[in-house]
Amino acid sequence: MRPTEMTTPDAMITQYSSTERLATRRGVWRPGPEGVSPTDVLRGAILDAQPTSVIEIGCGTGHLARSVMDVVPDVDYVATDLSPAMVTSAAALGVPATVAPADDLPFPDQTFDVAVAAWMLYHVPDLDAALRELRRVLRPGGVLVVATNGAEHLADLLREAGGEPLVTQFTSEVAEEMLGRHFSHVTHRDIETRATFEDHAAAVAYLATFDAELSRALPPFDGPRSYAGSTAILTAR
Ligand SMILES: C[S@@+](CC[C@H](N)C(=O)[O-])C[C@H]1O[C@@H](n2cnc3c(N)ncnc32)[C@H](O)[C@@H]1O
Repeated sequence: MRPTEMTTPDAMITQYSSTERLATRRGVWRPGPEGVSPTDVLRGAILDAQPTSVIEIGCGTGHLARSVMDVVPDVDYVATDLSPAMVTSAAALGVPATVAPADDLPFPDQTFDVAVAAWMLYHVPDLDAALRELRRVLRPGGVLVVATNGAEHLADLLREAGGEPLVTQFTSEVAEEMLGRHFSHVTHRDIETRATFEDHAAAVAYLATFDAELSRALPPFDGPRSYAGSTAILTAR
């Protein structure tokens, strides 16, 4: 597979140095044939745990945190991210947020009853170290809620542009096994989603957020187009 710009460490830092690229990508996703939104399932899993304290790692813009805090105003929610720009964005939404790497969280053992890692474990340099850290800061009986994408996520669009599917270290296909190394009970739900682009320019803009070469290579098309995405929501105790 040709490594996309997203898969090199330096590019990952550039990628999240501001919120725009992430916001462009988030904006195209709609529920798939089942009418289910992965973000709704993710939020539901957090709320089902009736949390009093939550840590979210790789929080991005802070929108998930804000939406949970809106439902449970008394929750003690801490959002963390490696990117100062993301932490600034989350703080601007009123979310307590701090810069921290996933594998070195500045919190004592057994602090939280829910931990959240949404679409970010595929980026961490040492996945087992990050999972150990999440296990450490969770209280006994606490739950980790995770979202990630499958190996065929948006694969048709990537192939049309001459690329290959983005096979990461933490695809849906391997996530259960990886979580099982650190947690004894793991649940897994696959959800098909759709990325809808109103025109060719919108699809090009999406690809350009992570790979300029692919964005230039996408053959022209008329009108809107949508492509299948594959996501999984997992919980681990
Ligand atoms: C794809 S975005 C997902 C953001 C958010 N969770 C969401 O669902 O929109 C990945 C996020 O993980 C962050 N990130 C990447 N590597 C990280 C690490 N090692 N520790 C903490 N955050 C990291 C990035 O800065 C970025 O905000």
